[in-house]
Amino acid sequence: MAVLTVKDLYKTFGAGTPRANRVLDNISFDVRGQTFVSIVGPSGCGKSTLLNIISGVETHTSGQISVTSDDGKPARMGYVFQDPRLLPWRSVRKNMLYVQDQADDETNRRVDKYLDMVGLGKHGDFWPGQLSGGMQQRVGIARAFAVEPDLLIMDEPFSHLDAITARALREQLQDIWSQSKKTVVFVTHDVVEAVELSDRIIVLQPGGKIFEDITIDLPRPRRQTDPAVATLQAEVLARLERMKGMAPQVSAAP
Ligand SMILES: Nc1ncnc2c1ncn2[C@@H]1O[C@H](COP(=O)(O)OP(=O)(O)O)[C@@H](O)[C@H]1O
Ligand SMILES: [Mg+2]
Repeated sequence: MAVLTVKDLYKTFGAGTPRANRVLDNISFDVRGQTFVSIVGPSGCGKSTLLNIISGVETHTSGQISVTSDDGKPARMGYVFQDPRLLPWRSVRKNMLYVQDQADDETNRRVDKYLDMVGLGKHGDFWPGQLSGGMQQRVGIARAFAVEPDLLIMDEPFSHLDAITARALREQLQDIWSQSKKTVVFVTHDVVEAVELSDRIIVLQPGGKIFEDITIDLPRPRRQTDPAVATLQAEVLARLERMKGMAPQVSAAP
């Protein structure tokens, strides 16, 4: 598990140029332990930028960010993206092994364990092109869990799937996550999905400020068909209606 600390974070693309675009505006939050946090907000509000800064792919303009393992070491991170990004010329199992440091017996056992957990135990020798989109995304999820990350970062992993497949994968993700000890930061534009999955929802508004930080206190496993889940989804949606139509908060770039 990981300890993630974000403090007074700002990001401006093209800082100091006439095209300066402030995308993240004074973001602060902490996440620790086996917590599932979603970052929710409309398209363009800076969600992927925030994830890219957390993962170290993108730099920030000012503020602090730290990700450590809960034993104080640098955190191991795993990633799941919108598209599974499998190498088409490698088998499913070889795609899983590709991101592993070693290919010893223990690693092979771990890869098989997570393939089993996503229901693809018999598909290790298949080519990605032989799998449906939902199955490929399950390989992407298994691959991320199989590196045993302290922090798992997921950027809209179900947004390209049909509603039925997405629902099945949300249920599977919850089950795997409940059995593993991972801190998850999950990005989505879908509030309903976020309520089903998360312990906590950080809502970003256009302009990249935190609009609300909501605790979701529902027992697990949660299922879309559960009335308590549906009631809370409606409640959170109603709260976010206040944000609808809000003009982007344009502030002077540093
Ligand atoms: N590499 C980049 N260079 C310049 N602008 C960028 C870059 N990446 C993202 N942006 C801009 O930052 C804003 C937020 O983008 P993004 O973080 O992808 O939003 P979201 O993931 O919430 O849809 C957008 O206005 C986008 O055009
Ligand atoms: Mg995005």
